[in-house]
Amino acid sequence: MTTRRLVLSRSAAVIGAASTGLLLPGMAQAQSGKVRVGFMLPYTGTFAQLGVAIENGVRLAIDQQGGKLGGREIEWFKVDDESDPSKGIENANKLVQRDKVDVLIGTVHSGVQMGIQKVARDSGVLSLIPNAGVHAATRGLCAPNVFRTSFSNSQPTRALGAAMVAKGHKKAVWITWKYAAGDEAFEGFKESYTAAGGTIVKELGLPFPNVEFQALLTEIAALKPDAVACFFAGGGAAKFIKDYAAAGLKGKIPLYGSGFLTEGVLDAAGPAADGIVTTMHYSDSLDTPRNKAFRLAYATTFKAQPDVYAVQGYDTGLLLVQGANAVKGDLSAKPALYKALESAVIDSPRGKWTMSKAHNPVQDIYLRVVENKENKVIGVAAKALADSGAGCKMV
Ligand code: PHB
Repeated sequence: MTTRRLVLSRSAAVIGAASTGLLLPGMAQAQSGKVRVGFMLPYTGTFAQLGVAIENGVRLAIDQQGGKLGGREIEWFKVDDESDPSKGIENANKLVQRDKVDVLIGTVHSGVQMGIQKVARDSGVLSLIPNAGVHAATRGLCAPNVFRTSFSNSQPTRALGAAMVAKGHKKAVWITWKYAAGDEAFEGFKESYTAAGGTIVKELGLPFPNVEFQALLTEIAALKPDAVACFFAGGGAAKFIKDYAAAGLKGKIPLYGSGFLTEGVLDAAGPAADGIVTTMHYSDSLDTPRNKAFRLAYATTFKAQPDVYAVQGYDTGLLLVQGANAVKGDLSAKPALYKALESAVIDSPRGKWTMSKAHNPVQDIYLRVVENKENKVIGVAAKALADSGAGCKMV
């Protein structure tokens, strides 16, 4: 009885508030208010630079589209997730429960993403993943309100193995941080490398975010493989590249990687990065008007060169604008919103891409080589590559 009265009086209040344009405290934001957009990203630690690039990309895309979402102004919220999986749920709830965001944009680290995924599934908040590639997010734990604008962890490396074998490198060592991103990148690498006739002689790993590579580099020198393939990113990637050269391996054992290895680190790594070959859904040197315009706008706005993370952020902004415009800013119109997001074609600096049924980009993967602090495209390693979406009930 009490509950019923409460519901009745609350709905009367909603109607009253809507007609007067007022918002009551604790009430979901009416369409006329600002759209509440929350960033949950790493702003400290080895992935700090990645978080900044993503946020910059999102803001640039939205600014270029008029700075609004479906005609509504935006109120921004931010949480530093520190790439700490143990605080993933708590941090996501700061945005969802405390700040009552309409959209949660995050994050970079796959382990932290699992916390966001739980909160997104429990609360139904619109969740846009601008980096973290954890398979579960668009496979077994996929959800109608979760969309990824980046990649699945095995997508870039599924194009790597064949490229290495084609260069005659038939025996490889794999090295990574031991957590979901590294392990799932390995899955893609193993599949592509062994299918092309390569043999993985050893898998090496260290816990995230450790950067004590010395003992492992000594082991690689002793194993003498034809090549090394790896997954590292951010500050740790810059250090790995420099340590690899300092250990005397550069020029002796070619280094390959999932393209994150050489994203956003080329100034820090310097000449030690020259010649590294990687596979990735973006390349600085893509010779398209779209990419050139993006790079110029980003560099002018932020006084920094964009990288793949900036592109993923930018595409997240583009996707959100498309979705919000389709529902004229009413993000509570969920079926129409999801339909718009599912059918979006993103005109990205990386090239046009679409959403798979499990909400992960279907995209080209480029083969690149580092030359003079640039990831130069040298080929297309895979065309319109989709993740399997295995175990996703929406597929
Ligand atoms: C991840 O944890 O999913 C991750 C982090 C950094 C990257 C790529 C993937 O560059």
